[in-house]
Amino acid sequence: MEYQGDRDQARTLRALSREFGTASARRSGDLKTARVMSVTSGKGGVGKTVCVANLALVLARQGYRVLVIDADLGLANIDLYFGLNPKFNLNHFFAGEKELKEILVQAPEGIMILPAGSGVQKYTRLDSSQKINLMEGLDLLHDRFDLVLIDTEAGISENVTYFNVAAQDILVVTTPEPTAISDAYALMKLLSTRFHEKRFKLIVNSVSSENEALDVYHKLTLVSSRFIDISIDFLGAIPLDKRFTDSVRRQKTLVELYPKTKSCQAFANLVENLDLKSEKQAPKGSQQFFWKRLLSLGETG
Ligand SMILES: Nc1ncnc2c1ncn2[C@@H]1O[C@H](COP(=O)(O)OP(=O)(O)O)[C@@H](O)[C@H]1O
Ligand SMILES: [Mg+2]
Repeated sequence: MEYQGDRDQARTLRALSREFGTASARRSGDLKTARVMSVTSGKGGVGKTVCVANLALVLARQGYRVLVIDADLGLANIDLYFGLNPKFNLNHFFAGEKELKEILVQAPEGIMILPAGSGVQKYTRLDSSQKINLMEGLDLLHDRFDLVLIDTEAGISENVTYFNVAAQDILVVTTPEPTAISDAYALMKLLSTRFHEKRFKLIVNSVSSENEALDVYHKLTLVSSRFIDISIDFLGAIPLDKRFTDSVRRQKTLVELYPKTKSCQAFANLVENLDLKSEKQAPKGSQQFFWKRLLSLGETG
């Protein structure tokens, strides 16, 4: 019963967002809105934040105006990866004390970050008014950015599904570890069966070779082709590399610290595979920032 409800909600959200988004874009005479990508995983610690930080850097260097949202509301840390010490964070926003633009912080290369605060239990599960406020806040910012990267928490909590459904591209990160692979599968299965997400982009992190990554990709496509109706694109592989640990410790991205390495090149390849310039990419609705008013539908408890 609950499943049916989710499905209906997702369908209604999308239909209405298309309508509202088109009307709104027509009014402004500008159909271009920010492209929203979530970076997500079933298992924790697989390299989501590392990917977000380094992808953001490569994208910013290519001239994109990038916003990073730290949506790991229980265990925030993207700011640490950039060596930032933000005074305010999303908890201040959810508490009604600050507007989003007041908590935006600047990272290298003009990247802007919406930092999350760690450890405030009441914000680790957003209620529907918080979701609406967030979407409304983001709506005000949408023309300041070309790309929005959302660093989600791991797992299949409601926050995770919420941010993934809000994104146009869902980038799933896994490592070759069996538990990470099966958790990635579980996440895609849930997003597919309950929220009708059918398309995923896979990043395989911490591999010793490209073949190891392709192996993971083949495993996932094999299982999913048998049991669920989804398509997975292979976005790329990131090598297992001690420099990542070093870069996290030094609070600077690997792309900045080690620009001539294979690991750095791996992020450039990922960006290439995102195919950002291609018009034929038909995101599942290019005005996702406009569906805020519909989010009250999205609450399940
Ligand atoms: N390719 C890699 N090679 C070696 N260590 C890595 C790699 N990717 C991530 N790590 C390490 O794994 C840890 C977890 O990464 P992180 O991006 O924070 O994971 P998540 O955001 O998924 O929880 C970090 O300390 C990082 O240094
Ligand atoms: Mg993280």
